[in-house]
Amino acid sequence: MVSRRFIGVEPSLIRRYFEVVSYGKDVIDLTIGQPFFEPPREVIEEYVRVLKSGGHRYGPNAGLFELRDAICRMYVEDWGLNYDPRFECTIVCGASEGILCSLLAVVEEGDRVLVPDPGYVQYRYAVKIVGGKPTFYHLKFERGFQPDIEELKNLASKFRPKAIILNSPCNPTSTIIRSEVLKAICDIAVDYGMTIISDEVYDRIVYNGYKHISPAKYAYDNTIIVNSFSKAFAMAGFRVGFVLAPKHLMNAIYLAHCYNTNCAGKPEQYAAIKAIEVRKTFLSRIIEWYEERRSIVLNILGKLKDRFIPPEGAFYIFLRVDDIFDSSIKFVDSLIEKVKVACVPGKAFGEYADKFVRISFSTDIKSLKEGLSRIVSFVENI
Ligand SMILES: Cc1ncc(COP(=O)(O)O)c(C=O)c1O
Repeated sequence: MVSRRFIGVEPSLIRRYFEVVSYGKDVIDLTIGQPFFEPPREVIEEYVRVLKSGGHRYGPNAGLFELRDAICRMYVEDWGLNYDPRFECTIVCGASEGILCSLLAVVEEGDRVLVPDPGYVQYRYAVKIVGGKPTFYHLKFERGFQPDIEELKNLASKFRPKAIILNSPCNPTSTIIRSEVLKAICDIAVDYGMTIISDEVYDRIVYNGYKHISPAKYAYDNTIIVNSFSKAFAMAGFRVGFVLAPKHLMNAIYLAHCYNTNCAGKPEQYAAIKAIEVRKTFLSRIIEWYEERRSIVLNILGKLKDRFIPPEGAFYIFLRVDDIFDSSIKFVDSLIEKVKVACVPGKAFGEYADKFVRISFSTDIKSLKEGLSRIVSFVENI
């Protein structure tokens, strides 16, 4: 008998559509949740160098000290946040492992955890797997996908949740939580003793003067930051991520990681140090690439502009389609069948999210233009 914790846990719908695209050769793929470009050249060179010179051995459980130190120095310099590399940083195998270890560290059997809907697929299932109960707060289109403070206050006082998961910039909505909203959420977390698990994997991909702010700025003692090299540095396959948290939270996260994966790979950790070293020039280049794609999207989807909020960060359009089909899966299946373009049904991101589909613009410009034009004609001719 498998554990009851897996009742209702399902494979990600995103993967199902990823497979449709892999097998259906002439389908334009706008499902992609990872960067379209290569990692920095220095990263690959360092990976190969380390692999050839002893990199096949185990490293320390918490991760290489040199990498933890580089991350903590980067956080002071770029975000003004201070963490001690000895006790307040653990290197994990991608943000995915960081999220699971953070939940394992704070959630006890039956505890409520506030999870966004729409929200990244892993959250609600990871909460269930650690024995918690996902309790949804809604990011409504009419509110620009901003969390509703009144709703959060009500949920906090009714259920006394152990933790809240935040994700800004957000997958799938591509919006950024406004600083005053973030501050109010942090106040609720402090008042009710909730831990904030802040998934910041898109922190570097922001547009038009929007700014990423970590909740650690307003509620340092309550916040666990989870981040990785997957999105900003196109290193998704390297599986290197990190968790930053004050010492009183970090010890349990560290132990969860030790008895889960032991340690992250060594060559990829040295490669991550290189990514940090070259970040300034590399990140300004990728933002230009994303901005170019974002303007193409806004231009081609102009006729559908009432159906989405222009991306503030990340690289997705979350298009409202509930007046066209009563399910996002039907929309995407029909889109693939009629015009051979694949995107991800909102259903993958929650129940409210079922009103939308997620279109990724992290792809080559030719496919992007053709794919978007086909979506516009599909919607207009339905
Ligand atoms: C919001 C969000 N968090 C976490 C992850 C997983 O990141 P990683 O590759 O670092 O495990 C993703 C990947 O798509 C994501 O979109």
